Amino acid sequence: MKVTVVGAGAVGASCAEYIAIKNFASEVVLLDIKEGFAEGKAMDLMQTASLNGFDTKITGVTNDYSKTADSDVCVITSGIPRKPGMTREELIGINAGIVKTVSSSLIENSPNTIIIVVSNPMDTMTYLVHKTTSLPKNRIIGMGGALDSARFKYRLAEALEAPISDIDGMVIGGHSDTGMVPLTAHATRNSIKVSEFISEARLEQVKEDTKVGGATLTKLLGTSAWYAPGAAVSSMVQAIACDQKKMFPCSVLLDGEFGLKDLCIGVPVILGRNGIEKIVSIKLSDAEQKHMEQSAEGVKKTNALLEI
Ligand code: 2OP
Repeated sequence: MKVTVVGAGAVGASCAEYIAIKNFASEVVLLDIKEGFAEGKAMDLMQTASLNGFDTKITGVTNDYSKTADSDVCVITSGIPRKPGMTREELIGINAGIVKTVSSSLIENSPNTIIIVVSNPMDTMTYLVHKTTSLPKNRIIGMGGALDSARFKYRLAEALEAPISDIDGMVIGGHSDTGMVPLTAHATRNSIKVSEFISEARLEQVKEDTKVGGATLTKLLGTSAWYAPGAAVSSMVQAIACDQKKMFPCSVLLDGEFGLKDLCIGVPVILGRNGIEKIVSIKLSDAEQKHMEQSAEGVKKTNALLEI
């Protein structure tokens, strides 16, 4: 199993590290445009192999896509991250050109690859890859919901004063500060609805804190987060590589599911060796459906800024 991660910045390097430590891939190629940067990160990571107990080979390359050839999964993290006060959507001007070039170079060398898009604005970047490449739609996946759901579970555990392992919850919708749809009515603590443990008002606060989870960290860090994004995308890569048929909320191209068409947005999907094995249609409340439709409007507005 060969995986390529484009972008050796904090998110890309974290993703490569978590994939390596999980030991399911034979090789991870880490590619960056900055001379020597990916090579340095790969070498530093390889020097943790004996300490962290993995045999995965991490290879760093500077802008040489021939070294990514025949990758089973390619992760695109390249592009600029947001600064405090910025929205993800403001990154479109620079990141769209990068994602278009990167995806085409990856597919040229790995025509059978599955692509996972992380670069922001992620739903629109995922849509861009659909519109500018010939990859089948089951092989283009956007990572946002897995990260947002992890933040949702973190906030729920905090509110319930419970261990994270007791908590389950999912966030669907757009990966944006206003477009996320945390499914509070479905969230549970060990199969019991979380509404049994906390007030409606507290649950609302959890929802709001989840939506701005990325912005909260950007304010604290001065740049976008990287540990949880890297961990989220590495879990998706593992589900694909090991054909786990695991359910994640992912940004995928919709053609009528949830009443939405011609956009990529976060919905529950089953991930396996074919990438998106199945889009899972779930019954949403009227309020949840309305939020999804509002979220889709926001994503389409950003999509309209693309010059395809
Ligand atoms: C985040 O929410 C980078 O969009 C990513 O942290």
